[in-house]
Amino acid sequence: MSLEGEKFDLIYSAGIRELSPIFWTPVDVAAEAAKLLVTRAGTRVLDVGCGPGKFCLVGAQVTEGRFTGVEQRSALVAAATKAAADLQLSGTVDFLCANIMDVEFENYDAFYLFNPFEENMFEGHKIDAVVPLSIELFKRYTSHVAERLGVRPLGTRVVTYMGYADEIPACYTCESVLFNDDLKLWIKTREHDPALEALGLSASRSYRGSSGWQSPRRSDTKPP
Ligand SMILES: C[S@@+](CC[C@H](N)C(=O)[O-])C[C@H]1O[C@@H](n2cnc3c(N)ncnc32)[C@H](O)[C@@H]1O
Repeated sequence: MSLEGEKFDLIYSAGIRELSPIFWTPVDVAAEAAKLLVTRAGTRVLDVGCGPGKFCLVGAQVTEGRFTGVEQRSALVAAATKAAADLQLSGTVDFLCANIMDVEFENYDAFYLFNPFEENMFEGHKIDAVVPLSIELFKRYTSHVAERLGVRPLGTRVVTYMGYADEIPACYTCESVLFNDDLKLWIKTREHDPALEALGLSASRSYRGSSGWQSPRRSDTKPP
């Protein structure tokens, strides 16, 4: 199967392909994200809200990592599982039909997030009507992921694509940016401090990426 964007999407049904430009990671972005996350053979990567599995399927083809996608919509999990079988990737990729609230973060070394909870924020911006969506759920899922990422070991890598990276706790530092600042690599560089997190500081909002000013919290840079 070709890794070119639109050709890759041919593995999916027309309905899933139509959602691709808005909801699924582009192939070139997925490949770079996977390379940022996989630091050794067998790195266990979790895609938080994997949709039809595009990031995991691309990542398994360009790295030696092991990819798991968790997705709350069963139809998307079925599409992802079928695509993995069609691509003969079932040994390095697997998909769970579950809510992120029920996933053990301890089982993974690295994490990928493409705006998983954004649908809860905007009326009219949704994949379908089969799951409940609300601002309350956005807050619950986002704070849960931030808390689970906060207690992962120092050196843990997270990549975010698009959005405000609200799930990234303040103990992570933005180490590199790609694709016009849309793709960000975060690494846990400080011990988790619940009191600091309670202030609501988001590392993401203080970092403007490669072309603008850089976060004063980055130890290697001076404030403007
Ligand atoms: C913007 S899509 C990204 C899909 C995929 N990660 C990618 O990059 O191609 C976000 C996905 O997260 C899923 N999702 C949202 N909230 C979730 C939750 N609480 N538990 C599991 N999946 C969730 C949605 O159903 C949707 O498929």
